[in-house]
Amino acid sequence: MTTGREVPPTAGRGRFAAVDVIRTKRDGGVLSDDQIDWVVDAYTRGEVADEQMAALAMAILLRGMTAAETARWTQAMIDSGVRLDLSVGDRPTVDKHSTGGVGDKITLPLAPLVAACGAAVPQLSGRGLGHTGGTLDKLEAIPGFRVGLSTAEVTAQLREVGAVVCAPGDDLAPADRKLYALRDVTATVESIPLIASSIMSKKIAEGAGALVLDVKVGSGAFMTSVPQARELAGAMVDLGAAHGVRTAALLTDMSTPLGYAVGNAVEVAESVEVLDGGGPADVVELTLALAREMLAAAGLADADPAAALADGRAMDVWRAMVRAQGGDPDAALPTAAEIEVVPAPRDGVVAAVDALAVGVAAWRLGAGRARKEDPVAPAAGVVLRRRPGDAVRAGEPLLELRSHEAARLPDALAAVAGAVTIGAAPRTGGPLIIDRIGPS
Ligand code: URA
Repeated sequence: MTTGREVPPTAGRGRFAAVDVIRTKRDGGVLSDDQIDWVVDAYTRGEVADEQMAALAMAILLRGMTAAETARWTQAMIDSGVRLDLSVGDRPTVDKHSTGGVGDKITLPLAPLVAACGAAVPQLSGRGLGHTGGTLDKLEAIPGFRVGLSTAEVTAQLREVGAVVCAPGDDLAPADRKLYALRDVTATVESIPLIASSIMSKKIAEGAGALVLDVKVGSGAFMTSVPQARELAGAMVDLGAAHGVRTAALLTDMSTPLGYAVGNAVEVAESVEVLDGGGPADVVELTLALAREMLAAAGLADADPAAALADGRAMDVWRAMVRAQGGDPDAALPTAAEIEVVPAPRDGVVAAVDALAVGVAAWRLGAGRARKEDPVAPAAGVVLRRRPGDAVRAGEPLLELRSHEAARLPDALAAVAGAVTIGAAPRTGGPLIIDRIGPS
């Protein structure tokens, strides 16, 4: 689309003027490599103002970006910081990234499991924002656990333990950190090129040799439809391949929370059950599927993750990882002072438990944060007492809401009103693993 009149280039302080870059995208044009390099760099340095980048992000959300623009945008975000080299001797490095869900504690059992099978797993993770939980918040529920490690500490732990889950340093894709915070408050998160470049710039800069993406789809995810999730997965797999990182993606269901536990301490406890050879069937299924993908991507396709889970090797790595990061794997986890049980209104069979509603309730109970500087309450969360397919009688527990403050319970109760659908007969849900995208 054109505006119908030629607009002369506006003089700016740098090589370009931000208004010209915004106007190009606003009018449906394609940004040049030079424009992209300049705008990402100038924004990171503070020369392009937040309101200008917000306008550009909105134009990108509405107009999209071509594959070539997305690749260049990703490269510019990588170049805004350092590119790490976390290789450690002859152990191949492999990482996993989830686009975020409700009850998604998979990194906790997965990182030690894949390390127990011979790979090195540097998992630079994030914190929760909104209704999706963050891996770092979960791990910090373990007394003493430290997520702020230096690169030297990360490399030493990878060599000695094989797995590390920590926060990325400030010098890893700083453009993304600034832009993500801006997108979060300007309703511009849900742009496929911006999500793909945000995730992949951090993962490529982190320097792992291979990457497996868990692209969530459903009410509790950023992508609510399978075609959208497939498009995002394809864009990320292509970006990985273009940067020499062997990348595959699984599309997985996020219409129901994963497992029974949604929160921080409660999800750590459930992860330990999985590492102990038990745990909910869906959490075990997804952990093993992602482990197999990671091991294949790392060139270790012959390893048997189910055996490493069953014989305690994964648990040994978990305990070593927690200790190496200052935590006590035997310490009691925080417990909630206030517990409210939501009973079933009638007899029947649970047909659905809505992930978004449960995620919002856990967040209102204190498990998540409204602003990125807010603290989280480690013991807060929701525990499902019934999952889809379970029979229930009127008055029996459906959900348990846990918080440190009684005042938080009414809003959480409102969030879960109608979250659990009770039917007359079992209804078959779709598969947990919907599709796979990437090299075979
Ligand atoms: N996670 C990210 O790291 N970036 C996004 O844009 C969305 C989810």
